[in-house]
Amino acid sequence: AIVYEWSGLTQLAKKLEQHFGIERVVVVPGDYNEDDTILTLLGKEAALQFMSSAFDGQVVAVTGGKSVASLAQFLHPGDIQKDITFVAARGGIGHEMQMQANTLVATFAMQMETQYRTLFLPEHLSEQAYQAMLTEPMVTEMMAFYDQADCVIHGIGSAEEMAIRRNSSPEDLRILEEKGAVSEAFGYYFNAEGEIVHRIRTIGIQLEQVQNSQQVIAVAAGKQKVNAMLSYFKVAPKQTIFITDEAAAKAIAANL
Ligand code: F6P
Repeated sequence: AIVYEWSGLTQLAKKLEQHFGIERVVVVPGDYNEDDTILTLLGKEAALQFMSSAFDGQVVAVTGGKSVASLAQFLHPGDIQKDITFVAARGGIGHEMQMQANTLVATFAMQMETQYRTLFLPEHLSEQAYQAMLTEPMVTEMMAFYDQADCVIHGIGSAEEMAIRRNSSPEDLRILEEKGAVSEAFGYYFNAEGEIVHRIRTIGIQLEQVQNSQQVIAVAAGKQKVNAMLSYFKVAPKQTIFITDEAAAKAIAANL
């Protein structure tokens, strides 16, 4: 029965791969919105995907969030890949400490016995502060890493939930709603058509740099994120490997 179940999930994954036009989709059984422990399955698959192609000298940009955090316990030192650098994809400090990109890169590096780079900056910078930051050596160094990113591991959120989590002002919330923001990934907000409608003003990886990286691993699950997924995958780079759960995958497939 288990074999049958997994093969059904493989077919579901193939459907999504074709529809989104991305490299690979992995569907884990269950419904994250009903059962938190699904995160463990998600993290295990994502970690496997990552470690199976990790290489020496690799630069890996990592975003925050629970989904990405789920990889941590499954990462371990590789035989050949000794020299990986995990870089926080954004300088924000808006998340709970455990879920921040800055914390995750440190944990990932500890698990794999490699290096990491952090960037501690306020989540929202004024235009003036942002411009000033751009010439700071610690910032230019991070931006050089973003340019070299070989892999990006990121989460996807619903625009509304992320705006609330980030303590956006009522004014910002109104603007996002007005602009039709549906999804959020690495600080960018996208509408239902996958167009960028807003960006958080902070130092972080640019969409173009994500597109230029060899490998992109997106981790997101739960029916509640289906609209966000449908929006984000309109722009997702072709080289994306997407790890999700059965409930979300089925809901997406039902929409096709
Ligand atoms: O804030 C970092 C981030 O990766 C967002 O870009 C994304 O929308 C969110 O976290 C996903 O978080 P979670 O996996 O906890 O739903």
